[in-house]
Amino acid sequence: MKLVTLADSVYALHADIDTDDLFEGIWPIPNGVSLNSYLIKGDRTVMIDLFRDWEDAESQIEGQLREAGVSLSSIDIVVLNHLEPDHTGFLAELKKRNPKLEIIATAKGIELVKSFYKITDNLRAVKSGDSLPLGNGLELLFEEAPNVHWPETMVSFERKSGVLFSCDAFGSFGKLGARVFDDEFSAEEHGFFEKEGLRYYANIVSSFSTFVQRAVEKVKPLSIKVVAPSHGIIWRTNPATIVNRYLTYAGYLNGPAEQEICVIYGTMYGNTAKGLEAVIEGIESEGVPYSLHRIPNEDVSWVLADAWKSRGIVIGMPTYEYKMFPPMAYVLDIFERKHVNNRLAFRFGSFGWVGGAKKEFDATVEKLHWELLEAVEWPGLPNADTLSLMRERGAELARRVKETGRPKAE
Ligand code: FEO
Repeated sequence: MKLVTLADSVYALHADIDTDDLFEGIWPIPNGVSLNSYLIKGDRTVMIDLFRDWEDAESQIEGQLREAGVSLSSIDIVVLNHLEPDHTGFLAELKKRNPKLEIIATAKGIELVKSFYKITDNLRAVKSGDSLPLGNGLELLFEEAPNVHWPETMVSFERKSGVLFSCDAFGSFGKLGARVFDDEFSAEEHGFFEKEGLRYYANIVSSFSTFVQRAVEKVKPLSIKVVAPSHGIIWRTNPATIVNRYLTYAGYLNGPAEQEICVIYGTMYGNTAKGLEAVIEGIESEGVPYSLHRIPNEDVSWVLADAWKSRGIVIGMPTYEYKMFPPMAYVLDIFERKHVNNRLAFRFGSFGWVGGAKKEFDATVEKLHWELLEAVEWPGLPNADTLSLMRERGAELARRVKETGRPKAE
């Protein structure tokens, strides 16, 4: 990767991570992820957000620092907007090589510097409204943005260039390659990053959607020219696009989500899948877009992304040992943790001796405030009447999703 100039004396660095490893130890990243850091060469040299010792991140970032004429030992200050180790894992090593390094974070962030990295000197806590003058008109302004994505998080804004260093906010999965700016990607590539951005939002940020809305309100008065997150594209031509996209996603926390249906099913021997075909026929008869996910074959990461944006949810699963099909119990547990609230849902499934998924399912989704259409369950294979009922339910769900869902945002 090459060093990228954002503005006079302000630079972007990034490491593209290509790995079979999971992000946060949970989420697959088959398209990689970028770890973006930033550099300001004022009267002191400041690095904003770091990276973790992951694949060859260190050599990628060090190469770009060299291009800027900066070495790890010549950095004066590191600003840590967020302490999650994807942005700070290298801190202990950096401090070892550069003992005079000053570390700036919020007070809560400083506590994590001490507990995660056992560093106790040259620490400076900042709060909303504090600033760091860097000479030649350069000045970093700090604004706390708690829970985007951890409690200690803040964003930093460089006044002269108008660059907002937003850390996790406005980020996405997907490695960048040689290009970093929004105006350097084709419409097709933007489509890719939009999908990976939604998956990143649903997987990482969704629980904190209310805090995303608050953070956007806080930074609104700033004259933002560039949105520079710590993962993914840097937005210099249309920064409002990514801010509005995040606000749209945040709005899905309590719904209504989009006029779309997320169909999730698991099947042991194909009997539940027989009913699925009929539900889909019903949905298609109303022309409502849907996504289809078989679990556990597909990772919950993608299921969650589509569920997050969908007003309608279909859950198809057999009864398993008198309870829910275990992979579906896991999916619903993730939905509860991520607050996939206020959806309109339909459940169906096959059972062998007795149904049993209902009790557990109803108790789970009650917490999510889902409105449920009447479920359909059958023993063994579905008969013609059951399939006809399933078609009707699919069509009914689709009609109600059209009535109550939000038109897809452009
Ligand atoms: Fe990219 Fe919450 O760390």
